[in-house]
Amino acid sequence: MKDTFYITTPIYYPSDKLHIGHTYCTVATDAIARYKRLKGYDVMFLTGTDEHGQKIEEKAKAVNKTPKQFVDDIVEGINGEGGILQLWKLMNISNDRFVRTTDDYHVESVQKIFRKMYENGDIYKGAYKGLYCTPCESFWTESQLVDGKCPDCGRDVKYAEEEAYFFRLSKYADRVRDLLVNTDFLEPRSRVNEMVKNFIDPGLEDLCVSRTSFTWGIPVDFDPGHVVYVWVDALSNYITAMGYDNDRYNDYDKYWPADVHIVGKEIVRFHSIIWPAMLMSLELPLPKKVFGHGWLLLDGGKMSKSKGNVVDPYVLAERYGVDSLRYFLLREFPFGSDGSFSNELLITRINTDLANDFGNLVSRSVAMIGKYYGGKLPVFDDCNTEVFDSELIELVSGLRDRYEEKMEAFALQPAFAEVFKVISRANKYIDETQPWILAKDEANKNRLAQVLYNLIETIRICASLLQPVIPDSAVKALGQIGAVEGNWDWDKLNVWGVLAKDTAVNKGEVLFPRIDMAKELELLDNLNKQPAEPESDPVLPDVTIDQFAACDLRICKVLACEKVAKSDKLLKFSLDDGSGTPRQILSGIAKYYKPEELVGKTVVAILNLPARKMMGLESNGMLISAEKGDKLNLLMLDDSIPAGARIC
Ligand code: MSP
Repeated sequence: MKDTFYITTPIYYPSDKLHIGHTYCTVATDAIARYKRLKGYDVMFLTGTDEHGQKIEEKAKAVNKTPKQFVDDIVEGINGEGGILQLWKLMNISNDRFVRTTDDYHVESVQKIFRKMYENGDIYKGAYKGLYCTPCESFWTESQLVDGKCPDCGRDVKYAEEEAYFFRLSKYADRVRDLLVNTDFLEPRSRVNEMVKNFIDPGLEDLCVSRTSFTWGIPVDFDPGHVVYVWVDALSNYITAMGYDNDRYNDYDKYWPADVHIVGKEIVRFHSIIWPAMLMSLELPLPKKVFGHGWLLLDGGKMSKSKGNVVDPYVLAERYGVDSLRYFLLREFPFGSDGSFSNELLITRINTDLANDFGNLVSRSVAMIGKYYGGKLPVFDDCNTEVFDSELIELVSGLRDRYEEKMEAFALQPAFAEVFKVISRANKYIDETQPWILAKDEANKNRLAQVLYNLIETIRICASLLQPVIPDSAVKALGQIGAVEGNWDWDKLNVWGVLAKDTAVNKGEVLFPRIDMAKELELLDNLNKQPAEPESDPVLPDVTIDQFAACDLRICKVLACEKVAKSDKLLKFSLDDGSGTPRQILSGIAKYYKPEELVGKTVVAILNLPARKMMGLESNGMLISAEKGDKLNLLMLDDSIPAGARIC
């Protein structure tokens, strides 16, 4: 039986479209999951969405949707497009399971978890008085605030008071402290100091774990006026999605405790203090590790939709390819620290590493085997080797173990850098051996075959180890050098000479086309300047049929139309409204229409609005038009309908 490896990402808030920062976290987790599969583990990779809470309730209300409709649209997309599920598919995320906290089985399990903690005396009823940050859904103590603001998001907090249930977090303070300080539970180590200094040593207070001020949450089943605090609900996903206390899944015994929870640094507190304490209360085993990665920053600050500086993973993946984007994210920034995103870094990284170094190595090697041997190497005799042969072979043969050591520590950037050191060495080997010179002399045929074989063997190992980060392109590269299933088994990756000597290569597409930096930067700059995608207009609150009927909407014919002097916007219309007396209406559409092209047209106007004066002229009603973004269309009908006809 294979060893298991259970890895999770945080479950995402479906409150806005996800940005490149979220993608970073998920791609990193995906690469680790794929790496473990490559090693032969039975991997369970869980991700999902965290769908309850006041923030979602408020956002849904603002756009006139029910909270469930609102989260469905963000998770599943609209008409199957643009949702979180589609984003993960696009980014080639290989999760085995996707949990939504609105799933029935999760709701049922969370209720049982809450009840268990209550019954064992770890949850009690009290009253909460404190400072609350609505967007973060967190209560803070005065001493935790930074400059009087929420320490997580920097926004204002407000005083709040409510009857609530509390979890005896204080009871577990010593055990949690011991876990953090004396084990490798939380990494990188620097995060331990943050937790102990900022949260544990100042004194862990009991945690407020229910709310009565809103309803979009999991009801406490024995006190339904309360909903379960969103973090208790969310953290539980890691066990409910394995089937803890529900019949939906049956994998709890197989996978729990999790091997690692990958989380962003701002939620380390919840995962390394509250989550272990909850599990201690439930008398369940603790996850083996929590890894707190850094943030991807933009212009020195955190990415967020509210800052209006979101980098859209759809746009970047579409322009540069999913694998290039994945590679950039994991190769450019050390996983445990913050990194600054820029388009320039992205393009440079793609051009140098992927197009120049890796892509070129593959295409040159395959092309030379094509040119000199018609695409199939001959069986050659091992002949005299030069010092650079043994240097290359030694470097390649030790690569898997150097890479493994780094991947095991979640040091993704150094692990992939190791592979690229070998790729550079192989490109240098081409310059050293000069196959094009060897090819000139028939006497060197054996040596030439050996050199080219060394290149494709190097590519086999490098491409195999790059599968976790560039899954599609790595498989394509392996296909181009003629590798077949089995050639990239883990135990073949520290062995030299796995490909058959007379391997046949397959010329294929260019793996990573070079990007024209100047052109792309200009294009991205323009894209960034465009206004954010307009939000879909919510449907307005209901009106009665009588209210609608009270609007006197009529067909009118344009008798005359001219620009209003000294106004850029206004056109003055003289209209036949069927009454026999021409009606004057002013309309701010001069930017969109020339007056002469409107004469004789059949338009729609609302007639019973109070008269208004604009630029000294009276307007008796309003023309109806449709407007979105910078587009405006005056509503026009064909002229078969007479002036004065009612719209009803
Ligand atoms: N719903 C909670 C997690 C509950 S887990 C039981 C949450 N959701 S989130 O959508 O706000 O964030 C999900 C993850 O994305 C977090 O780990 C967060 O750190 C990560 N990131 C969000 N923006 C990020 C960057 N700019 N850079 C890197 N990671 C970022 O928190």
